[in-house]
Amino acid sequence: MIRLIYSSALNPAYSVQELHGLLAGYRARNQRMGINSLLLLMNKDFLQMLEGEEAAVDELYDFIQHDQHHLQLTLLSRETVDEPCFPDQPLMFVDTEELARKLGHPVHLSNIALHGELDHAERAKRFVQEFINGKWHHHLPNGQNPQVVHRH
Ligand SMILES: Cc1cc2nc3c(=O)[nH]c(=O)nc-3n(C[C@H](O)[C@H](O)[C@H](O)COP(=O)(O)O)c2cc1C
Repeated sequence: MIRLIYSSALNPAYSVQELHGLLAGYRARNQRMGINSLLLLMNKDFLQMLEGEEAAVDELYDFIQHDQHHLQLTLLSRETVDEPCFPDQPLMFVDTEELARKLGHPVHLSNIALHGELDHAERAKRFVQEFINGKWHHHLPNGQNPQVVHRH
């Protein structure tokens, strides 16, 4: 099984609202493909972790690379792992700003991985921690049409 982590920015042509409407479909596909996933949203930037059999994860990442919703897609990590961090979680979606508002304080790692799911995955834990601290965010140039990267 592999674990792949990427970051991207939401194409400004789309809204977060619209994304919400698509999540159920993504979740159903992940379930069919035997994929576990954590998707974090912050300031219109994403960090997603995909876990599953190599062929399934690579196939999904290929879909993602062709999806115009994403800009500045950046592959952060792809490694072989023994066990998933989020078994039985086809798509765990966390809007970190919404969660911070609910909690009344900035989001901590423990608010996301409530049951220590990331504890045996140091590398993944580091990326998630860094993302909620503001790293791996994309800065789309103002007033310019951002370019889609990684298009084939
Ligand atoms: C932030 C973000 C996360 C996504 N995550 C998934 C996912 O976990 N599983 C999935 O099947 N599609 C996901 N997608 C959609 C894919 O990028 C792609 O559009 C889709 O798999 C292609 O199939 P479709 O044309 O039937 O939508 C995601 C898209 C975005 C913008």
